[in-house]
Amino acid sequence: MIKKVSVDDLKPGMEVVQLSADVWQYLPYLYTKPGVIRNDAQIQAIKRDGFLHAFINTDIHSELSDEERLEKLILAQENEAPRKPRRPFNKVIDQARQAYTRALDQTKRIITDAKMGRQVDFHSSAEALEGVIESAIQNADTIVCLSKLSKYDSYTYSHSINVAAIAVVFGEFLGMPRRDLEVLGVAGMMHDLGKTAIPNRIINKRGRLTKNEFEQIKKHPIFGLKILEKSQDIPMGVMQAVAEHHEKFNGSGYPHGLKKSDTSVFGRILSLADVYDALTSDRSYKDAILPNKALAIMYGMRDQDFDTREVQLFIKCLGIFPAGSLVKLSSGNYGVVFESNPEQPLLPKIKIILDEDLTPIPARLVDLAVPDNGVELRIVECADPSQYKINLKPYFHSRIDNSPFNM
Ligand SMILES: [Fe+2]
Repeated sequence: MIKKVSVDDLKPGMEVVQLSADVWQYLPYLYTKPGVIRNDAQIQAIKRDGFLHAFINTDIHSELSDEERLEKLILAQENEAPRKPRRPFNKVIDQARQAYTRALDQTKRIITDAKMGRQVDFHSSAEALEGVIESAIQNADTIVCLSKLSKYDSYTYSHSINVAAIAVVFGEFLGMPRRDLEVLGVAGMMHDLGKTAIPNRIINKRGRLTKNEFEQIKKHPIFGLKILEKSQDIPMGVMQAVAEHHEKFNGSGYPHGLKKSDTSVFGRILSLADVYDALTSDRSYKDAILPNKALAIMYGMRDQDFDTREVQLFIKCLGIFPAGSLVKLSSGNYGVVFESNPEQPLLPKIKIILDEDLTPIPARLVDLAVPDNGVELRIVECADPSQYKINLKPYFHSRIDNSPFNM
């Protein structure tokens, strides 16, 4: 619904719509520049310029602030909002993989642009993320799986796209509108751009950082913000998220030591996705932590790094056994979780790939919620692929017609 409001009632997050020129000539004090109001400073400038009214679209952006909208979404999730039906995993995984690769290529492009001192392009980044957002809407497990199983040569690139993907999946889980998913995705892609302004010897240092080196690292959100400020059309939500992705709930984060109440919804979601991907990734100086253990660690960081309700919902979103986890079943076989079960989180769908001696066997799909030939299979433990020297990648990169994910 289009509604006329006084400029005194404008709030950040509202979307101003442009009306036809005919209307405008009868309303000379009408502010008509279309787009989302970014912040209070913009509202002050509109008032200073003498505008008295604006037309806003109440369908797309309500008068609620981002914070109030998130609160509504969290309440809906906590009250078990009905889940949308998902498209079958095997029907959408190929499309998701292509979307992921496209978004990864764009991530490489913007990181190179930032290194070369060029502007970064919001619109082509948002466009490159469209497929990832679509896949997250159709079946988020595809994206969670890809983020954990697809390893690329460079941590910088894969971490940036993974943070984008996980943030989009969580935003979608909360029921955020597509426009916000775009902000989250682009913010994920761009969140560490500021590291391009820090010497490689510090970024890639394997040993412990000196105090001085860590002080330099702590500046990367500010450097990132500077890169975005000199680029065109970057939405305020992306800037906030990049600037705030290392702030913590209790104010102990950096660069500004902001508390939860001073951070944006986008910044907090990015921080959850950033920590989850960092914990579950291999680095030169540490092995990846299993997804379920990473979530347990993050729960332990509640009320310090994260808001308790927000981290609880993040865990609920990814599930106890996130897609892509290797698990051991009560039969002794091993399998990969490839489709979570939000109603019964302990009973996801599993692709069995190894027997009890870790010998590959013809891949077979089992739904733990349904007895397998009369036998009720259960997950007995989460297994570490690197400990067993199992490379899950081939199971994911083979073509769909002979893929173990093909049903
Ligand atoms: Fe960072």
